[in-house]
Amino acid sequence: MKKAPVSPPATIVIFGAGGDLTRRLLMPAIVNLQKAKLLGASTEILGIAHGDGDDEALRDHLAQFVDQGPDWDQVRKRIHCLNGDFADGGLYDALATRLSGNVVFYLATAPGFFAPVVEQLGKAGLLDEASGFRRVVIEKPFGTDLASAQALNARILAQAREAQIYRIDHFLGKETVQNIIVTRFGNALTEAVWNNRYVDHVQITAAETVTVGTRGAFYDATGALRDMVPNHLFQLLALVAMEPPISLDAEALRTEKAKVIAAVRPVAPEDAVRGRYGKGSIGGEKITPYRKTPHVAPDSRTETYVALKVAVETWRWHGVPFYLRTGKALSARDTEIVIRFRDAPISLFRDTPTEKLPPNRLVLQIQPSEGMALEMAIKKPGPLVETVPASLHFAYSELFDLGHRTGYETLIYDVLIGDQTLFQRADQIEGGWRAIQKLLDAWSSGKPEDYAAGSAGPDKADALIGREGRAWHPIG
Ligand code: BG6
Repeated sequence: MKKAPVSPPATIVIFGAGGDLTRRLLMPAIVNLQKAKLLGASTEILGIAHGDGDDEALRDHLAQFVDQGPDWDQVRKRIHCLNGDFADGGLYDALATRLSGNVVFYLATAPGFFAPVVEQLGKAGLLDEASGFRRVVIEKPFGTDLASAQALNARILAQAREAQIYRIDHFLGKETVQNIIVTRFGNALTEAVWNNRYVDHVQITAAETVTVGTRGAFYDATGALRDMVPNHLFQLLALVAMEPPISLDAEALRTEKAKVIAAVRPVAPEDAVRGRYGKGSIGGEKITPYRKTPHVAPDSRTETYVALKVAVETWRWHGVPFYLRTGKALSARDTEIVIRFRDAPISLFRDTPTEKLPPNRLVLQIQPSEGMALEMAIKKPGPLVETVPASLHFAYSELFDLGHRTGYETLIYDVLIGDQTLFQRADQIEGGWRAIQKLLDAWSSGKPEDYAAGSAGPDKADALIGREGRAWHPIG
């Protein structure tokens, strides 16, 4: 079997080394790479942080969420700290003196710093690839609407080539998301029916039980639509709806994804529902209503739930609606894609006691309990021809040990080896924003419908999908 190569020598410079993302996700992922023997022996980590901490202080800070042991010891000694202010040119001069060879600049910062940091890197010559690769990783949110995303892309691409930019969408780091490609294109069975002749509609759900919690300030300015749809949900949509790429090369794949995102018809307000959680409880715990969350305006109009009916205007998907929904404080954590196939064309079973055939559905369970299920109609044993649903299913946990992965392992490794497959290209990002811009404009007025915390979302979401006689796949 082909073995993944060890990553080449490189320095990972983390802007925002003192932040939560670095501590909770990046460091554990880097240690997991070390454990998997995928991290090159001369990988260095240079954390940039405000204040006057030293190497040891940063190492202690970053130790909090990693598994202690020999792998962490190996990584720990290669962590160094550089104090500085992201806006100060002196910091970049210091970096220029210090760095040579391959460098990854990881921007784990507030979004307001993305463009200024890249501009400073460019000005200091740090993006010049004469002595090795220079790559920039940019976290989300990438812009807040179409115009700001375009402006951000323009500023970044004035300093570096697209091939140097790695825009993160952490959903693409999830194993089961990457499996969509294999499910579709590695199986003649699935791809043969993957079109408007056999598919009635598609549902993409990212339901969360978590509330906005301590993220009130960010979330109230953002909302569920911006936070989840143009990035995560559209990436899932793109993987489900794209045409087969001619190879698994990053550009081939990203081109097909960009094409399908560009084919999403701008979502009209009448095809969208927004909701906001109020009182309620989840797992016996009483939930603070959204508008009582710290740093959320008491008269906030921000949505914590959104459901959309999306049209993908390609030959393959003409007439097949894609229903997308996501929300916080819902009854269960459930990220899934449901392909609902058409009913069998002839109702042989019209006169049987069950009358209606149970539908065929393929459920791709992204999280939790990663797996897949194909729901089919079978005959109930007995003298009458009675049909009942049955499920062919498999769970990843029965076949593999997925371990405690953060989802960032593959992404960091791919940046180090220069594989952009799982990163968003500028046109995909802008396409995502373009598709929802009309809605963003419309939602600058009006307000969301309340739903009880711990429920499945607002009633209007049921009405949206119910308009054409369809129903949501139950959450959880
Ligand atoms: C983030 C959003 O990008 O994704 C969060 O900002 C959301 O609001 C999170 O909770 C969901 O990711 P996951 O991996 O927990 O499904």
